[in-house]
Amino acid sequence: MIDYDLELRHHNDALRIAYAIRASDRVVDVGCGTGQTTRDAARLATAGTVLGIDRSQEMIERARALTSQAGVGNIEYVCANAEEHELPRERFDLAISRFGTMFFSRPMTAFVNIRNTLRPDGRLVMMVWQSRDRNEWATSIERALASDESKAESASTVPPAFSLGEADVVKRLLDSAGFLSPTFEDVRAPVFYGLDVDAAFEFVSEFSTVRDRIAGLDSRQRAHAVDRLRDLLVRHQRADGVWFDSRAWIVTAHRD
Ligand SMILES: C[S@@+](CC[C@H](N)C(=O)[O-])C[C@H]1O[C@@H](n2cnc3c(N)ncnc32)[C@H](O)[C@@H]1O
Repeated sequence: MIDYDLELRHHNDALRIAYAIRASDRVVDVGCGTGQTTRDAARLATAGTVLGIDRSQEMIERARALTSQAGVGNIEYVCANAEEHELPRERFDLAISRFGTMFFSRPMTAFVNIRNTLRPDGRLVMMVWQSRDRNEWATSIERALASDESKAESASTVPPAFSLGEADVVKRLLDSAGFLSPTFEDVRAPVFYGLDVDAAFEFVSEFSTVRDRIAGLDSRQRAHAVDRLRDLLVRHQRADGVWFDSRAWIVTAHRD
């Protein structure tokens, strides 16, 4: 399973500051995955509660196990699609998400649902990738894997991970969903893919974009693509591991 906690260790520092969680807060973590941010929130909301929601049963089970190991008590998890699950109205002070909101197939429905579960003075704080062309990890891996025939296609299709990459698109979406004046903090931090090239190769091979690209190649193209990908990882190896540049937004918006 991909370890976002290691990959995103620098992003978390910026996020914790932006969340500004108070002891009494009731927090919902949307697309909580295995729950690192959910547990962090619960440790700060000592007199409050945290709900983690994720549509993946596997992620939720792992989140529950890690939370029980960590002995954090004020958390509940629900396995549900944030676009469909009826969250309680006006329950939460804060909705947080670390890279969990870009994959909605009906973003407006999901953001209206999130807006409605916030109390009147509630906030949304989410981290999303900026556009693909600003993310070295995406463009360089894509270039390494692209065969000549697939280059044109890859330039024109935007993977879901970058669906909230443009600030003006996010602003319009949040305005329409009932949020006020969103702000965008530009976070430039490297992502960590493993201590060495083998670990990094295993890590990026789990990306759906990488899996799909490799699956679409014949055996000769696949062998070349894998060689190019390994070469790329070698070029990104530093003394403390394999790192790529990235750019993300921390988007903060208040309920109207
Ligand atoms: C990139 S992972 C991030 C996980 C977690 N926030 C973290 O930082 O470790 C995105 C997560 O969003 C979840 N997700 C995507 N769409 C969702 C939806 N519509 N409802 C609930 N969860 C969703 C996925 O299952 C996945 O666990």
